[in-house]
Amino acid sequence: MRIKTLQRKLAVALSLGALGPLIQAFTVRGHKLIKTRVTEMLGIEHPIVQGGMQWVGRAEMTSAVSNAGGLGILTALTQPDPEALGREIRRCRELTDKPFGVNLTILPTIRPVPYDDYVAAIIESGVTIVETAGRNPQPYLPALKEAGITVIHKCTSVRHSLKAESIGCDLVSVDGFECAGHPGEDDVTNLILLPLAARRLKIPFLASGGFGDGRGLVAALALGAEGINMGTRFMVTREAPIHENVKQAMVDATELDTALLYRTLRNTARVFRNSVASQVLEIEGRQGPTDFDEIAPLVKGTRGRELFESGHLEHGIWSAGMVIGLIDDIPSCEELITRIVAEAEQIISQRLKGMIS
Ligand SMILES: Cc1cc2nc3c(=O)[nH]c(=O)nc-3n(C[C@H](O)[C@H](O)[C@H](O)COP(=O)(O)O)c2cc1C
Repeated sequence: MRIKTLQRKLAVALSLGALGPLIQAFTVRGHKLIKTRVTEMLGIEHPIVQGGMQWVGRAEMTSAVSNAGGLGILTALTQPDPEALGREIRRCRELTDKPFGVNLTILPTIRPVPYDDYVAAIIESGVTIVETAGRNPQPYLPALKEAGITVIHKCTSVRHSLKAESIGCDLVSVDGFECAGHPGEDDVTNLILLPLAARRLKIPFLASGGFGDGRGLVAALALGAEGINMGTRFMVTREAPIHENVKQAMVDATELDTALLYRTLRNTARVFRNSVASQVLEIEGRQGPTDFDEIAPLVKGTRGRELFESGHLEHGIWSAGMVIGLIDDIPSCEELITRIVAEAEQIISQRLKGMIS
């Protein structure tokens, strides 16, 4: 009997062993630090990254996250051309002396995007971290690696993560079905996706999609990730450069208030459920193949940008994840990150530790 109890204690201790050493003895603003391979590789205080966000990932947002000890990421295609991106990077550098990155989303577009020139602008600017997303980043990797840039590729499946590892990406962000934006077509949630990634990947990975609090951070670490990537939660902060009406709508919403558009086109996007999203769903619900030309005027990117500026919530669509169900305030990035890390540290060192008898 005594041997069995000892064996059980050992098993629990081993399972918590993965989290225990992450808590560091030294403190920042009274809190212990959670240190992982990701905090080491990116040179950041906390294992929290703000993913690229079209129209939101501007210098105000990015610098606020980086100043709070996370990694802020500018969104390259929010800028109209590579020269403007160069200027935005310089503006961000004036607002923070901490590391920050640039997101490059590689997608087929109606108007061709000069990706090579955006990559050249990133390299020229001296930025040391790039988040790629969308298509395979392979064509741009030699130039990025040559410049000593750390590349994080964001993908929605283990097979794409393995591909990213095999072509030389340094990190991946694994985006589960819960996420805002494009969750892919596999519909696998993070409870399955992250442990699978942990089993198969050698490079470290971030858990992305559905994260917004300390519980989520602890869960991500327990499932094998080395940090979290958040989009939606960072939209609802004081520094996010979008209209207050949008932030308040997300505070008021529940986890049921997102919609999956373009399923019929196999290009799924998770967005906030407003009347425009419902109109798109109605069109997609009709018999026969979906005519994108009918949808296009409703979902134009410029309408999303105007919506963020004007606060007219039915003017277009915007990306939002299921985590809106967990959002009930509009803190500063500093308050948010400090809170998440403090909660996580408390859960690991008190709640979980207390469960081991
Ligand atoms: C408003 C908004 C815009 C986004 N735009 C992009 C984008 O342009 N490129 C990209 O790679 N990801 C984009 N994302 C996805 C985020 O980077 C991140 O992967 C996602 O939000 C994670 O899920 P979460 O919202 O549940 O945290 C966007 C997300 C939001 C909320």
